[in-house]
Amino acid sequence: MSAIPAHVGIIMDGNGRWARQRGQLRTQGHLEGLKAAKRIVKAASEAGVSYLTLYTFSTENWKRAADEVAFIMALVKQYLRGELDFYRENRIRIRHAGDAGGLPADIAKELREACEDTCGFTGMQVILALNYGGRDEIIRGIRKLLAERAGGGPGEIREADFRRYLDNPDLPDPDLIIRTAGEMRTSNFLLWEGAYAEYWVSEKFWPDFTGDDFKAALAQFGKRERRYGGANS
Ligand code: IPE
Ligand code: IPE
Ligand code: MG
Repeated sequence: MSAIPAHVGIIMDGNGRWARQRGQLRTQGHLEGLKAAKRIVKAASEAGVSYLTLYTFSTENWKRAADEVAFIMALVKQYLRGELDFYRENRIRIRHAGDAGGLPADIAKELREACEDTCGFTGMQVILALNYGGRDEIIRGIRKLLAERAGGGPGEIREADFRRYLDNPDLPDPDLIIRTAGEMRTSNFLLWEGAYAEYWVSEKFWPDFTGDDFKAALAQFGKRERRYGGANS
């Protein structure tokens, strides 16, 4: 039996290239990407994954054309509304990672409501990394820590202390990070938490990623030897 990773993170990349390959607009790629996200949430839940973090929009993605950004935000809203019944049926809890303060007010509200509506569910947790950047999360964490210790000085800071200031301190670190569309980089995803994550890269563009591809990643993960800096056993 291969081990199932408790926490899987996915860098859902390649929507634009998927569309270009077909002579379509980038927005069409995002639309298909949403279908893939739904597919993979289902596959992960069925596989027994406990936490699934989906990299949906980075702190750097604001650099894109305004109409593309607006389209992605509208899709997120539609997703949050449209999937609520599915979450209820499957007891899936929605959470957010990233800077909610930097999101358009209507999206932040929708996200907050989806998190509140599902907070009692004890099935898989889906963490939407939205307006998320690993560096930004660490800097915001440092600010929270300094504000809490104001007056008393920063004192000693250990790794375990700092974790409390991350966006979701109770989550275990990701065991496996999947990236689609062949790119071999983190693009600012879970920098702190992903220190010892196993990486798995698929050449497929995100809209083409299937439940079987996800299962193949899990199977690969089951064969990895994780040493955390220790020596071979
Ligand atoms: C991922 O696909 C979606 C987001 C980053 C929001 P891209 O839009 O980055 O697609 P490519 O990388 O241009 O193909
Ligand atoms: C990473 O993809 C961000 C998301 C998938 C949301 P990008 O397309 O933004 O990353 P780069 O620009 O190729 O590094
Ligand atoms: Mg990309």
